[in-house]
Amino acid sequence: MAEESTAIVIFGASGDLTRQKLLPALFSLYCKSRLPPGVRVVGFSRSGFSDDEFREMTWEGIREAGEPAGLREQWEEFARGLTYFSGDLADPQHLVGLGARLDELEGDSVSANRLYYLSIAPQLYETAISNLGASGLPQGAGGWSRVVIEKPFGTDLDSARALNEAVHRVFDESQVYRIDHYLGKETVQNLMVFRFANAIFEPIWNRNYVDNVQITVAEEVSVGDRAGYYDRSGVIRDMVQNHLLQLLTMVAMEPPSTMDASSLRNMKVDVLKAIRRWTPKEAATHAARGQYRGYLSEKGVTPHSTTGTYAALKLYVDNWRWQGVPFYLRTGKSLAYKVSEIVIQFRSPPHLLFSSSQDSKLTPNILSLCLQPDEGTHLKFEAKIPDQGMDTRPVDMEFRYETAFNKRAIPEAYERLLQDALEGDASLFIRSDHIEEAWRIVDPLLDYWQDPHAPAPHTYEPGSWGPREADALLAGDGHEWVQVCGGHGE
Ligand code: BG6
Repeated sequence: MAEESTAIVIFGASGDLTRQKLLPALFSLYCKSRLPPGVRVVGFSRSGFSDDEFREMTWEGIREAGEPAGLREQWEEFARGLTYFSGDLADPQHLVGLGARLDELEGDSVSANRLYYLSIAPQLYETAISNLGASGLPQGAGGWSRVVIEKPFGTDLDSARALNEAVHRVFDESQVYRIDHYLGKETVQNLMVFRFANAIFEPIWNRNYVDNVQITVAEEVSVGDRAGYYDRSGVIRDMVQNHLLQLLTMVAMEPPSTMDASSLRNMKVDVLKAIRRWTPKEAATHAARGQYRGYLSEKGVTPHSTTGTYAALKLYVDNWRWQGVPFYLRTGKSLAYKVSEIVIQFRSPPHLLFSSSQDSKLTPNILSLCLQPDEGTHLKFEAKIPDQGMDTRPVDMEFRYETAFNKRAIPEAYERLLQDALEGDASLFIRSDHIEEAWRIVDPLLDYWQDPHAPAPHTYEPGSWGPREADALLAGDGHEWVQVCGGHGE
C-alpha cells in the first residue's frame, strides 16, 4: 500500500505558461530529487491530447527551455508520471470525471495530496474554483489540497474582493497560493538576505540617509502575440500592481521577527497600508503613462486604444522610516533593453570639500541591486583620481553572481515557487489582504486613466527609455533616473 501520493493537476495544460515554465520547472525539480516520491502531473485542458501527446509537448517545452541533452533517462522516468485529461472546467461533470481519474491514480494511498494549478485565463478563475468546489474534487483521501492561482488576481479592488470571496467559499486561505513569479527569482529573495543578513546596511536604510529609491523593470520585448490580453490589461495591471509593488515592499518593509509566512507577509502588507493614497486627480501629477509607437498596429489591439505600455509613478511610504522619501517606479515594453534594477540613492555629503570631475558636483552614493539579467550588487562611491589634485569621480564596487557563483545554478522562478507550494511554505505567495491593498493603491490611477477626458498616453519610440514626461516626474524633485545595471553605468 502506497503511504503517500501527490498529484499536481495543471488546469490550462495546453497553454504557453505550462509548456514554457511549469513543466520544465517540474522536470528540473525531478532531476534534483526535489519532488515528493510518487508524484504525478495531470494536465487538464479542452485540447484533445493523449497522454503521449502531452508528454511530447512537455519534452518540447523542456528542450526549448534549454535543458541540456543527456537527461533522456530521467525524462523517461519523469514522463511515466505524466497524464492528461481532456475536459472543460466550466462543466462540473468533467471535473467529476477528473476526480475519478485522480482516485484511480491515487489507488489506496493513505494520504493523497493534491495541488491544483490554475494556469488558465483569469476570467475563468471564479468558475473554475466554484466548479472545483461543486464537484467535491479538492480533497484527496487523508491528504492536503492546495490551489495555486496565477496573476492577475482581479482587475481592481472590487473584482479582487469578489474573487477572494469565491476562493474562500471552497478553500481556506491557508490552502491558497497566489503566485507572483517575481518572488521566485533568486535575486528578489536575495533582497531580504542583503538587508537582513548584513549588519551594515540596515542602520542607514531609512529617511535619514536615503534620498530616494528607484525601481525599474524595463523590457525590450513588445506586447507581441499577447496584445489581445495586454490591451485589456495595460501596464499597471500587468506589472505595477504585482511585480513592482512586490519589489517596493521588500525594499521598504521592517525586518520580520522570523521568516515564517505570516511574519513576512504581515510586514509587507504594513508597507502597502502606509503607501499614500491618491485621489484620481493627484494620480495625474504623480504618474506618467506612455505607449510605444507602433503599439496600435499590433494584432489584437483595439483601434485608438489608450492602453499604457509604460508607466512611471511616484509613491510615498508614510511611516517613521520612509516619511518624505520618494519611491519612483517605472516599467514598460519596447524599451532600450531588459533590466530590472533597484537603486537606493543616498543623501549627498552635508559639506563639500572636494571637486568632482563631473560638473563640479559630487555624485551621491548609489547602491544598485541588479535583479536581472546581470544579477549582482553595485555600490558607487567617490574616489580620488590619481595625480589630479583632489579631484574625484564615482567608481563602482561590485558583486556579480556570474563571477561569485555559478550563474547557471540560478533556477527559474517557478522552480522555487512550485517546490514551496508542494512543501506548504506560503512565504513567497501573496495573501488575500496584500492583493486588496495593492489594488487600493493603483485603482485611483486606473480610474483616472480610464476617464475619457484623461490625456492620451505619451508616445515613445521603441528602443528608448520611455516618454520624456517620466523624466519630468523626477526632475521636479531635482532627481533623475539612475541606471547602473546592464553595463550602462560606471
Ligand atoms: C509577466 C507579465 O507577469 O511578467 C509580462 O505578464 C512580462 O508582460 C513578464 O513580460 C516579465 O517577467 P520577467 O520574469 O521576464 O521579468
